[in-house]
Amino acid sequence: MAFPPAFIDELVQRNPIEDVVGQYVSLKRSGANLFGLCPFHGEKTASFSVNPDKGIYYCFGCHKGGGPVNFMMEIEGLSYPDAVRSLAKRAGMEVPEDEKYQSRYRQQERLWALNKEAARFFNAQLYTEAGAQGLAYAQKRGMPKSILTKFGIGFAPDSWSALTDAMRKKGYSDQELRDANLVSDKNGHIYDRFRNRLMFPIIDVRGNVIGFGGRVMDDSTPKYLNSTDTLVFNKRKNLFAMNYAKKTKMGYIILVEGYMDAIALHQYGFDCAVASLGTSLTEDQATLLSKYTDQVVLIYDGDEAGQNATRRAIPMLERAGLQVKVLKMRDAKDPDEYLKKFGADKFKVLLEQSSNRVEYQLGAIAKKYDISQDDQRVKYIQECAELISTLPSPVQREVYSGRVAERAKISLDAMKLEVNKCFKRRMARERRQQEKQELSPAKNLQPKSRSIRYDNIASAMAEETVIAMAMRENALLDRIGMLTPQSFSSPLLGKVFGQMLSRHSQGLEVSPAVLEELEGDEMSHIAYVCQRQQGPISEQAFADCVRKVLDEHAKRSVTSADALMALRNKMKESKGIK
Ligand code: CTP
Ligand code: MN
Repeated sequence: MAFPPAFIDELVQRNPIEDVVGQYVSLKRSGANLFGLCPFHGEKTASFSVNPDKGIYYCFGCHKGGGPVNFMMEIEGLSYPDAVRSLAKRAGMEVPEDEKYQSRYRQQERLWALNKEAARFFNAQLYTEAGAQGLAYAQKRGMPKSILTKFGIGFAPDSWSALTDAMRKKGYSDQELRDANLVSDKNGHIYDRFRNRLMFPIIDVRGNVIGFGGRVMDDSTPKYLNSTDTLVFNKRKNLFAMNYAKKTKMGYIILVEGYMDAIALHQYGFDCAVASLGTSLTEDQATLLSKYTDQVVLIYDGDEAGQNATRRAIPMLERAGLQVKVLKMRDAKDPDEYLKKFGADKFKVLLEQSSNRVEYQLGAIAKKYDISQDDQRVKYIQECAELISTLPSPVQREVYSGRVAERAKISLDAMKLEVNKCFKRRMARERRQQEKQELSPAKNLQPKSRSIRYDNIASAMAEETVIAMAMRENALLDRIGMLTPQSFSSPLLGKVFGQMLSRHSQGLEVSPAVLEELEGDEMSHIAYVCQRQQGPISEQAFADCVRKVLDEHAKRSVTSADALMALRNKMKESKGIK
């Protein structure tokens, strides 16, 4: 076990869930629970609940849930041990450091320090003979010294060992250089991975240098070489320049494709720009953005790849609760080029003209059809009507219907009719789906997270109740008869039950908040199961559920024994035939 159970107990007791959550979310009491706006997904009505008695939070919107440790992991993006450490600090407790975690933590700190040293080394190179061409290139690209310093931009010399030598001198081992992905390996010898490139350090929201992107200075390929993921770097969870953009007062964040674009935007006074890290936008990045803003302006390149990326990014950002605007680049391929050609004031105009995503999408549909041809005009109208029919507000539907009608030269009434038709068709479709779901309740009972599936719904429902009741009323764990974790049909519920038994047998209190070794979505599901348990608990109801789990388990063992027997008979038969 990682930390001593008794320590975790005290930690959880001294960090009441409502206080921990209350530091981030303003909560209002309603009955036994507190409610607030969920910090993990954007929302306007409070579906985020905190239950002080059970010591857990649960969001009915995004289905995240857990205890205080889990909350800290989610909200601050911390690992389990780091979340424990931060809560311990909050409560003024000393942490009994576990050897395994401690060494991992130390390793992380070493990598952060090594990356910072490397960034310093690269930056200093700019002002040496070996780096003169790097500085010249940066200047050619219009970057003043202040920007090079602000972003810690540097130069990796055209050498196999310049960085390696410098870092060895600072006391870093070859293994650490490998772990940071700063070197490559050949026959056991390491050599600098980044050579003859302009270096962009990637810095996380807490200010740690976690990786690098390196750009060639000519047309050779690959244009950028990026750090691969390491213990401290995950390119799907971070955004370039987020460490600065998180402090912006502009009220929105600009999301661009390139490092150079983000840097140019900051240089020209748009301190709210961030860039993804050489991948298309991820869910984690959308969530990260939603922690700092509720509006994102997307500026992807004008080419087809950029348009496709925009189309994919919009729903992802909206799912994270963000309002999306799209800026269409004109007269330049990207923001960097635009700013350098036309300056900040012109760009500001462009920014003000950036359209909301509906306008943008209607524009994209318009481009697909030649509306002077009647058949294409019909298709254009239908596709627009489909999009407009998805808008929640009648005013919005009216306004955009008007625009399309005007463009396609049809009457507003005809357009509205078309939109209504789409609307009704979709409602009917949704109703049918709803009915289908209601007819197969088993589907509704499956956990919200797709990574957890129940093979035996009937048993799993009883297993959930056993866990939820026993969490509330620990004494019930003395009344489980023959029930063991192995009797459970769901591996997750069995694992949780096992932890509960083990704690209970040590005389420790059992609550969802002290569970260990669960993935985020597993913890969320357990929180969901526990918060659902309301009202008085009867020993009879508990006993019934225990019986049900045992019966289902017996059935499964019988079936597999039967199957085995049948197989044996078959084999005997076939032997007999021979
Ligand atoms: N990228 C990458 N690997 C490549 C090409 C691009 O990781 N071989 C990523 C980088 O994060 C880059 C972004 O995709 O910043 C956008 O690419 P691009 O527009 O080609 O580069 P810019 O940053 O605009 O650089 P420049 O203006 O110098 O061409
Ligand atoms: Mn560019």
